[in-house]
Amino acid sequence: MRNIIMAGNWKMNKDAESTLLFCKGLAEGIRDLSAGVKAIVAPPYPFLGLALEALKGSAAQVAAQNVSFNSDGAYTGEVSAPMLASLGIPYCIIGHSERRQYHGETDQTVLSRQIKLASSGITPIVCVGETLAERDAHKTAQVILTQLKGCFETITISDPQSVIIAYEPVWAIGTGRTATPEQAQEVHTLIRTWLAQRYGAAIASDLHILYGGSAKPDNIRKLLEQEDIDGALIGGASLTLEQYLPMLLTANELIKARNPK
Ligand code: PGA
Repeated sequence: MRNIIMAGNWKMNKDAESTLLFCKGLAEGIRDLSAGVKAIVAPPYPFLGLALEALKGSAAQVAAQNVSFNSDGAYTGEVSAPMLASLGIPYCIIGHSERRQYHGETDQTVLSRQIKLASSGITPIVCVGETLAERDAHKTAQVILTQLKGCFETITISDPQSVIIAYEPVWAIGTGRTATPEQAQEVHTLIRTWLAQRYGAAIASDLHILYGGSAKPDNIRKLLEQEDIDGALIGGASLTLEQYLPMLLTANELIKARNPK
């Protein structure tokens, strides 16, 4: 049984003060959230400690936005998986399209980062997604399957909660142009089918696949209603409580409707 994961990717936004304010407000705002909805926030590195502290005792969790594919040593500017683990960070986004576009990320480096996270017990949120040119050329399925094969090449999964996949069509990120629920569901089905072939039906049915790309309060319900969409990776709309909290509440309503007591 999958619950709903609502992960906020802050990207390179906010400062120390606004991180604290947001996290305190979030802790307050999710007090009555069902255990079936998991809120995750991914602040920039300098604010991870502040976010952890401010969210202590709340149900919200903290994620990093990237991790080094080395363990330690002379890698100026990098942050390792053991460092994140030593802070108690449970999740880390890897393979985001902005890192693929601006920072040389490839499926091979995503795989290397994933290996490091696994050995530190941190759950990766592995991002895949096609560009508009690839979609227009009817290459979406081919691109997604190639990314999955590359990012998971040597990865074994024995616990479906140990990995999260995020489908983020590049053309929908930060553009205001969301994939339709049907377009997203189609790719999520593709991903789950691939997972079943690669890791077996039990892993595939319990592993979370999030949608990302201009998810907002006014489109989140229809996305989350899709059978294979288990939550969202939210950029712009995760930056304010005015937008993020209503999205969590929508997820809460859907979970309650699924599991009426
Ligand atoms: P967006 O970003 O919600 O602002 O489109 C999503 C993401 O890049 O994770």
